[in-house]
Amino acid sequence: MLAKLKFLLYYTHRFRWWYAGGVVFLALTIWASVTIPEYIQKSIDIIAQGRAGNEDQFYQYVAIILGLALVLIIVRTFSRILFFVPGRLIERKLKGEMFQKLSSFGKDYYDDNSAGSIISRINNDINGVRMITGFGLLQIGNILFSLSVTPYKMWAMSPTLTLYCMVPLVVIFIIVRTGMVVMVKNTHLRMDALQRLSGKTVSFLSGNGVIKSYNIHKWAENQVEKENVSLFDYTLKISWIRSFVMPLLGSMEQILKIVVLFVGGLYVINGEFTIGELTEYIAYAALLTHPIMGLGWVLTVFQQGFVGISSIQTIMDRKGVDDLKPGLPTEEKSRLVHQGVSVKNLNFTYHNGEGPALKHISFDIRPGQVIGITGRLGSGKTTLINCLNGYLKVPPGTLYFGQKDASELRGHDIRSAVRTVSQDVFLFSDTVENNIAFGAGLNLEEEHLQNVVYRSALADELGRFPKKEKTMVGEKGIMLSGGQKQRISLARALYAPGQLLILDDVFSAVDSDTERFLIRQLFENKVASSLLIISNRMSVLERTDFTIVLEEGQMVAKGTHEELLRDSEFYRETWQVQEGGRK
Ligand SMILES: Nc1ncnc2c1ncn2[C@@H]1O[C@H](COP(=O)(O)OP(=O)(O)O)[C@@H](O)[C@H]1O
Ligand SMILES: [Mg+2]
Repeated sequence: MLAKLKFLLYYTHRFRWWYAGGVVFLALTIWASVTIPEYIQKSIDIIAQGRAGNEDQFYQYVAIILGLALVLIIVRTFSRILFFVPGRLIERKLKGEMFQKLSSFGKDYYDDNSAGSIISRINNDINGVRMITGFGLLQIGNILFSLSVTPYKMWAMSPTLTLYCMVPLVVIFIIVRTGMVVMVKNTHLRMDALQRLSGKTVSFLSGNGVIKSYNIHKWAENQVEKENVSLFDYTLKISWIRSFVMPLLGSMEQILKIVVLFVGGLYVINGEFTIGELTEYIAYAALLTHPIMGLGWVLTVFQQGFVGISSIQTIMDRKGVDDLKPGLPTEEKSRLVHQGVSVKNLNFTYHNGEGPALKHISFDIRPGQVIGITGRLGSGKTTLINCLNGYLKVPPGTLYFGQKDASELRGHDIRSAVRTVSQDVFLFSDTVENNIAFGAGLNLEEEHLQNVVYRSALADELGRFPKKEKTMVGEKGIMLSGGQKQRISLARALYAPGQLLILDDVFSAVDSDTERFLIRQLFENKVASSLLIISNRMSVLERTDFTIVLEEGQMVAKGTHEELLRDSEFYRETWQVQEGGRK
């Protein structure tokens, strides 16, 4: 609880002047709304006397009431602005901070939480905080002021009548509270259902191609429908409560007025109250119902908001993978690979994996070398390079950049020296040009871009697009073929190659002419000081300084083309198959 209050204080205290202004205008609002009934009372008493000659006084009172009503409109508006704007600003700040935090989490977090559910949960949580810091605080101020001023005015007029009024007010409070408790329960269930629905929707939409090609629309529709129905059920329950509780509260207000009318009416008949005082009292009683309802609401807002805060706190308190590691100075980053890279008896097990995906891997990459990695599907090639580029976290003492232990380096720093063109290409929904040089912004170097496009064998195809490199690639690059996507991804790496460039199977989706062209470009123009290429193509492996053969996570052979032809069965067989193809 204390931690949650601290959280709230941390975010609200920078807006203390806003809130202070809000409180001043709130006080003015309450003052205007309790002063108006006094003048109504005075005017009505003049009306009741019905004597000529009092018109001037009457006009004056009406003018005052009009003036107060105008003041009320203005100060109420300001009090709302001054409370709601900080709520929105806090929401904006939190969204930014949460995004930053989430980006710092490693693969394990995203393996366990789907993007859809993260988004919907965060929106909900932050919404809860916004409700507390805006509407919630306003209501608290409102309730505190109203419940201290209005009952005091009522009590001063008639203690007995005020006690009578308590009965319907307590009933109102209990109804709102009970309604709210049920509503909160259903709101949570609804939130979960919404999370599941958005998770499924996102996954089905991004897998739309698969759904179409396998003709499994019905299955997908049923899955979505199931969640949709449960979302509907919870929403309907919430609407039931809304449509019952709200009108009920409206009638309670009427009952309150009837009580005052009846008991107060008797006072008027007995001469204890003037007709004006009765009107004034009724106006106060009406003023009181709103804060009482508000109290029911505000408890819920805080309850829900606190649930949101604790969920935000779990995310905020989670350490990003690199939070505790010191960053490298820029000039060290640029020299990270200059003394080579050493892999020393590396074992790696995925956090959710059954056994180790890599076992006892050792090799060195000296500056200037070109190294190949080959092996069957699932042999651990991608896992190995993801260890090298800092995407996966390796155990201490197993991977060194020069003298530096990779487990003490930030992934970000490693990746500024080690560039990877991965097997699964991700393109942003933007132009080809921005996908290649993203982050370059205004500094886009046109000549360099053209050069990179040429060396990635994209020039011909881009030339055929009407908008050339300004062509939009569509969501995740759906406008392009697999091979085109892979080459854009290659061009992206060539645009800013880093010191060690890793290519994960980039030649798998290109024809042999293009492959030959790409290999020539890579080997002849030294793009990066070292090159690591995953491939099963002999035309590539032939030209490396040495190649590693992986089998079930183990390095079963290592050597030059000739050595491997002699030592590795897998390598020899692959060569024979491909040689047979060439002849
Ligand atoms: N995120 C992951 N979580 C758990 N296991 C994984 C993950 N990614 C890959 N693996 C497993 O690690 C092994 C090696 O996979 P991978 O490195 O992708 O092989 P390759 O790139 O050689 O085809 C496989 O058995 C695969 O199932
Ligand atoms: Mg792979």
